[in-house]
Amino acid sequence: MKYFFILGRQTELSIAEIEAKLRQQRTSFKTLQKKLDFAIIETEQELLVEELINKLGGTIKIGLVVDEVPNVLATNLVKLIPDSDKKVHFGFSLHGFQTNLTKLGLETKKLLQEKDLKVRFVSSKENPLSSVIVQKNHLLDQGAELVLMKTEKNYIIGRTLAVQPFELLSKLDYGRPARDSYSGMLPPKLAQIMINLSETAPKKLIYDPFCGSGTILQQGLILDYNVLGSDISPKAIHDTNENLDWLANEISLKTKYSVFQSDVTKQGPLGLAISAIVTEPYLGPALRGHEKQEQVEKNIQSLMRLYRTALQKFAEWLDPKGIVIMIVPKFQFNDQVISIDLNKLLPPRLKAVAKWEYAREGQHVIREIYKLQKA
Ligand SMILES: C[S@@+](CC[C@H](N)C(=O)[O-])C[C@H]1O[C@@H](n2cnc3c(N)ncnc32)[C@H](O)[C@@H]1O
Repeated sequence: MKYFFILGRQTELSIAEIEAKLRQQRTSFKTLQKKLDFAIIETEQELLVEELINKLGGTIKIGLVVDEVPNVLATNLVKLIPDSDKKVHFGFSLHGFQTNLTKLGLETKKLLQEKDLKVRFVSSKENPLSSVIVQKNHLLDQGAELVLMKTEKNYIIGRTLAVQPFELLSKLDYGRPARDSYSGMLPPKLAQIMINLSETAPKKLIYDPFCGSGTILQQGLILDYNVLGSDISPKAIHDTNENLDWLANEISLKTKYSVFQSDVTKQGPLGLAISAIVTEPYLGPALRGHEKQEQVEKNIQSLMRLYRTALQKFAEWLDPKGIVIMIVPKFQFNDQVISIDLNKLLPPRLKAVAKWEYAREGQHVIREIYKLQKA
């Protein structure tokens, strides 16, 4: 079966996450295309798309590829919209090309009306249609959203089966009681992507030794992992407990959490089977973009000392073959970029196996995401 995935802004990370999740759940697959903001993936088994989209942080929509055509014509599209006794709601999303959507929509509507169907064409100022528009206009349950994707050779037409759970994501982002705007919260979607990149089997134990306000732990619980967190700051521990207790009241959790105060360079968990360490460590003082080079270099030296010691501890605490997914800052200031080469800080038992980048416009700190494996 061929599926399309509409990717979030960080497309490379989103694809890496999808592939990691499919490998983790032992789905045989082949990535046929990665283009712009979509990917086409062929699988042997049927995917449980509703379940999958709830697990992926970097995917906006998933659907089935239903046709491939040399030109986009209303006569092709009309065949792909299901008949119904009730009113049929339909809409189109374009990826990689533009066309007169109003004309295409009205032509399709006319052809549907000729089949005696009651129809409504859903369009919006912005195209592609957002997940909110797709869901709220009943395109999934009383009609269809057709996603039209341009490739080098032709147009792939997909029918959306599931969209990102935007209400839950927004609640997890803005609804939590303890939000720490000072030390900066990791976006929950990125926390989810990082956990998935670890390819850890659900129910295993994931540890975040720089847990801050607990974003990684929160997303770990949502993905059905047992989670353990620690932080040097008593306030961070208080906030994490408050956030995770709130989460446990909001949704029924299948796994457990535990949090303790600790300096990562001094002590950590003992006697626990830790499958993965997923963490955003201390990234240094906030930058405004016009710092003196000397100051930035001094900050980096001190971060490198912290990371070197922390990584030695990670190698001790992890299970054999355990995974580390760790953010490392890359600094942009005065038109310069300074990165930290984590390879130079690794103890012999940890090896870097992959690296991605997460950058947002206007930010002075780019996040590099390293995947390490214990030998
Ligand atoms: C960038 S924040 C993590 C934010 C977290 N990912 C979140 O979303 O809330 C880094 C955290 O590292 C903690 N920290 C700094 N030095 C530490 C150390 N030596 N041991 C443990 N935690 C430390 C800070 O207190 C801070 O909460």
